[in-house]
Amino acid sequence: MHISVLVSGNGSNLQAIIDAVAQGQLSNIVIANVIADRNCYAIERALDAEIPVYYAERGPEMSQEIDAICQETGVELIVLAGFLSILSEEFCQKWERKIINMHPSLLPAYGGMGMYGRKVHEAVLQNHETQSGVSIHYVTPEVDAGEIILQQAFPIDQNTTIDQLAQKVSDVEKPLLIQALHQLSQT
Ligand code: GRF
Repeated sequence: MHISVLVSGNGSNLQAIIDAVAQGQLSNIVIANVIADRNCYAIERALDAEIPVYYAERGPEMSQEIDAICQETGVELIVLAGFLSILSEEFCQKWERKIINMHPSLLPAYGGMGMYGRKVHEAVLQNHETQSGVSIHYVTPEVDAGEIILQQAFPIDQNTTIDQLAQKVSDVEKPLLIQALHQLSQT
């Protein structure tokens, strides 16, 4: 299965995919390309692994550009790995059940427009939740509302800080993402 990984930031999840492919854990997967919507460290990780990198400028044409790149390079699944731009409704419909995203909460809780990164963790801690987690889900036009593929929960206590919660999410999301990719590449 040829995948495209869309990135905007540090790319630690991209790195987890690169490593899993290199180590033979995702033997059915080829990273066809990495697409970035801004200059970011993830680009360096892709270039180090000799993966073709494309730049899709943020704006009204961005989704069409990504669509063209993915079509031309035979992509079968698009992985949003810390991708911060919102894809168009048309794009999400065209690639229905072929785009996946990771979210740092137990969706549907703490999802939706504006709920990303530390904002999620802040809200979880403010509400004194006793658990949080990570969700891997299909992407639909409605933000964070697509069918859940995999979820993993973990307990949190009253003393947990935002940094600790962010670290826990970062530790949990990588194996979960690899598991989801493994699952999807077998079907
Ligand atoms: C991850 O924590 C992910 O849950 C969220 O964005 C972050 C991306 O990190 N969607 P990285 O760029 O993969 O390091």
